[in-house]
Amino acid sequence: MLLADFIAALDQLAAEGPARIAAATSLDEWTAVRNALVGRQSGTLSGIMEGLGKLPKEDRREAGQRANTVKQALESALEERRGAIAASSATGGPVLDLSMPGRREWVGTVHPVSLVIDEVIAIFRELGFTIALGPEAETGWYNFGALNFPEDHPAMDLHDTLYLGDDAVLRTHTSPVQVRTLQTYPPPVRVLAPGNVYRRDFFDASHAPMFAQIEGLVVDEGVTFADLKATLTHFARRFFSATTRTRFRPSFFPFTEPSAEMDVECGVCHGSGCAVCKQSGWVEILGSGMVHPAVLEAAGLDSEKYTGWAFGMGPARTAISRYGIPDIRILYDSDVRFLEQFAR
Ligand code: DAH
Repeated sequence: MLLADFIAALDQLAAEGPARIAAATSLDEWTAVRNALVGRQSGTLSGIMEGLGKLPKEDRREAGQRANTVKQALESALEERRGAIAASSATGGPVLDLSMPGRREWVGTVHPVSLVIDEVIAIFRELGFTIALGPEAETGWYNFGALNFPEDHPAMDLHDTLYLGDDAVLRTHTSPVQVRTLQTYPPPVRVLAPGNVYRRDFFDASHAPMFAQIEGLVVDEGVTFADLKATLTHFARRFFSATTRTRFRPSFFPFTEPSAEMDVECGVCHGSGCAVCKQSGWVEILGSGMVHPAVLEAAGLDSEKYTGWAFGMGPARTAISRYGIPDIRILYDSDVRFLEQFAR
């Protein structure tokens, strides 16, 4: 092939191109003209460019430059024409650019913490539990005093609790709902109290100043620690799996006596030890205990007649170990790329 032939073909394209571009009056026609002239696969220009390789080496540089000049001229004429078509159809009718990428449909999903709360509620509902709610702004008495916290308990420190005024706090746990429920409803009581609680914590990978808790409370005549253990073990088997192992460890809370924390076998390593369970094979999922007689009395019940048990769990912690979420802050980011993974 000769350089002259190559350039003649380019010149012809350069001469014809502008008229063809000007003839396009809609975005559809414009797209067709663009594809025909400078389309990557089958456009006239790409056809001509295929000849480049067949030219003698010494001619290729000049030919390449000429081709580029023609390409740029066509492209700027195309751009200008597209603007003109868009402007005229803006006054004449709706702009419909079929070359635009399609719009993504977003589908709402339930937040993983809410998934856990819903599931916990569903399991306890089968056992006859109902829902009780209380205020997030509490008095010191409901949040601490009625729950048998001693006057000088460190939790009451300005350091740990967010005070709203002299006697108002943002509740630091859902346990005050125990007292409010017992004041309102006579036993037998079987309730779950889900809700948000607040603490003066830094926001880091494992702490947040606001998080959800689920409180559970059972009060009746003749309720024992065996009821606590059986119910919570049943819950763990329903929530995790029928073969999930559990263990109770003695613990302390002012409002329960005796107190116990329940661990479940780590769902990631099944007990052999991993980063999620800090090599222990166990993950703590809740605090529990027999309701302290002082709490029953504070709520106006006869602690000789009634006994009860209670528990408190953090659904965010549970979601983290169940779904293997590496940083608690992800739960607060509302990043759809994360949340979408929980679509059902
Ligand atoms: N209120 C406790 C906390 O926030 C959790 C808790 C422990 C609640 C034991 C209970 C319980 O009802 O019996 O850490």
